[in-house]
Amino acid sequence: MPGLSSRPGGLVVIGILTLSFVHINSEIWSNEVADVQFGHLGSSITLACGAASHGSPVQWWHNGSSVQPWRTSGEALTLLNTTRSMEGNYSCHEQSGALLQTVRLRLGYPPGHLRVSCQVPSHSRIICSWMQIVATHLPTEYISSYRVDNGWPESCKQELAGVNECTISNPQFWGNRHIVNITEVNPLGSMSTFTKVDVLKNLKPDVPEALSTLEVEGQPTQLLVQWKAPVSWSDDIAFPLKFELQYRPVGSNLWSKLETEDTSVTIMDAMVGQLHHIQVRAQDAFINHSQWSEWSHMVQGRPWSNPYTSTEETTAESFDESVFPTTFPVKATNKSPEMSPENESLSLLLIISLFAAAMVAVVSTITLLLWVRNRKQHNVTKQELTSMVKMKSLPI
Ligand SMILES: *[C@@H]1O[C@H](CO)[C@@H](O)[C@H](O)[C@H]1NC(C)=O
Ligand SMILES: *[C@@H]1O[C@H](CO)[C@@H](O)[C@H](O)[C@H]1NC(C)=O
Ligand SMILES: *[C@@H]1O[C@H](CO)[C@@H](O)[C@H](O)[C@H]1NC(C)=O
Ligand SMILES: *[C@@H]1O[C@H](CO)[C@@H](O)[C@H](O)[C@H]1NC(C)=O
Ligand SMILES: *[C@@H]1O[C@H](CO)[C@@H](O)[C@H](O)[C@H]1NC(C)=O
Repeated sequence: MPGLSSRPGGLVVIGILTLSFVHINSEIWSNEVADVQFGHLGSSITLACGAASHGSPVQWWHNGSSVQPWRTSGEALTLLNTTRSMEGNYSCHEQSGALLQTVRLRLGYPPGHLRVSCQVPSHSRIICSWMQIVATHLPTEYISSYRVDNGWPESCKQELAGVNECTISNPQFWGNRHIVNITEVNPLGSMSTFTKVDVLKNLKPDVPEALSTLEVEGQPTQLLVQWKAPVSWSDDIAFPLKFELQYRPVGSNLWSKLETEDTSVTIMDAMVGQLHHIQVRAQDAFINHSQWSEWSHMVQGRPWSNPYTSTEETTAESFDESVFPTTFPVKATNKSPEMSPENESLSLLLIISLFAAAMVAVVSTITLLLWVRNRKQHNVTKQELTSMVKMKSLPI
C-alpha cells in the first residue's frame, strides 16, 4: 500500500500509543474480567463487591480510573440513571490496592417488537427477515418458528449465523395462512413478534435473469430479446411463469409492452436505427393475485441496420424528445418507421421523377404515333396519285 509505506512515521506513532495503552491496562486488569452484568439503560444499578470482607471499605475503579468515593456505599457501588458511558470494566480493591473482584457492565434495553418481512420468491420457500425497531445494544438471540392455522409450531430455519433471516421450506400453498413467530431473547428478557403470511398473495418471483438482446439479420424493425427464469424458481418447473417485457427508444418516455410465457420474444415494431431500452419482469402464470417481480435491470439494443447505408448512426444520436410528444403513443410511431423526414422527401423525389419519366414516355409515344399516322396518310395519297396517274395513262 503506497499510502502507508510513504509515511513510516505515522506507523511508529500508532505503535507507541498501542504499546503504552496495553502497558497501562496490564497494570490494572491483570486478572480476566470474569463476570458480565447486564443492566437496563436509564435505570439505577448496584454493583456488589462480593469478595470484600463485610464492613471493610473498598475502592472502585472504572475503565482504569478511580470512581468518586461518594458514589459508593459500603462495599457496593450504585450507579444512578445509567448512560452508555457507564458501561465498561469495574473492579473493587482493598485499601491496600489489592484487586478483589472485577465485573464488566453492559447496558441496553430488553427486547422490543421487531420489523419482520416475509418474501415468497417461489412455491417452495418463504423467507422471513427481521430487524430491531429500537437497538437494544445487548447480545441477542432469535428463535424463529411458524404455525399453519392451528397446527403445531415448526422451525423456520436460520441458515446463516448472524443474519436475521429464516427459511420455511415447502410451505402449504393452498388456502393457508402461515403465522411466523420471531422471538427475540436477550439478558433482560424476551419478546415475540408474529407475522401472518398469505402465501398466494405474497408470491413474488425474483427478477428474471440474463436478459439480453440480439438484432435480427435483415430486419431493421425487429429485436430478439432473451432471458432466464430466476434461479429461485428452478424447483418450481411445474408452475409456469409469465413474463412482461417493456421497451422504448432511448429518450422516449413511453413504454411499449409485451406479455409471453416463453423466455424469448421478438419485438416487431422497433424504431429503425434507434437504441432501445428493454426490461422484463415475471409473475406466476396462474395465480393472478400473486405479485409481479421487480423489473430486471435495463439492457440496450439496436435493431439490425444495413451496413451499406450510413445515415442511421447520426439519426440515432440526434434523437430528440420533441419527436415524441409525451401524449403520442410510441406504438403508433413504431408502426411507420420509414416516415422520418429524410425518407419522406426521398420518396417524394422518387415519385416526381417516376411521374416525369411516365410523362416523357407518353408524350413521345403520342408523337411517334402521330408521325407514323402522318407518314401512312402521306404514303396513301402518293399511292392514290400514282394509281390515278396510271389510270390516266391507260388507253381508254
Ligand atoms: C475490559 O476488560 C476486558 C477483559 O480484560 C478487556 O478486554 C477490555 O479491553 C477492557 N476494557 C476497558 C475499556 O478497559
Ligand atoms: C434520574 O431519574 C429520575 C427519574 O427516574 C429523575 O427524577 C432524576 O432527576 C434523574 N437524575 C438525573 C441526574 O438525571
Ligand atoms: C468504558 O469502556 C466502555 C467500553 O468497554 C465504554 O463504552 C465506556 O464509554 C467507557 N467509559 C468511560 C467513562 O471511559
Ligand atoms: C413463539 O415462540 C416462542 C419461542 O419459541 C415461544 O416461547 C412462544 O410460545 C411462541 N408463541 C406462540 C404463540 O406460539
Ligand atoms: C383471478 O382469479 C380469481 C380466482 O382465483 C377469479 O375470480 C378472477 O376472475 C381472476 N381474474 C382474472 C383477471 O383472471
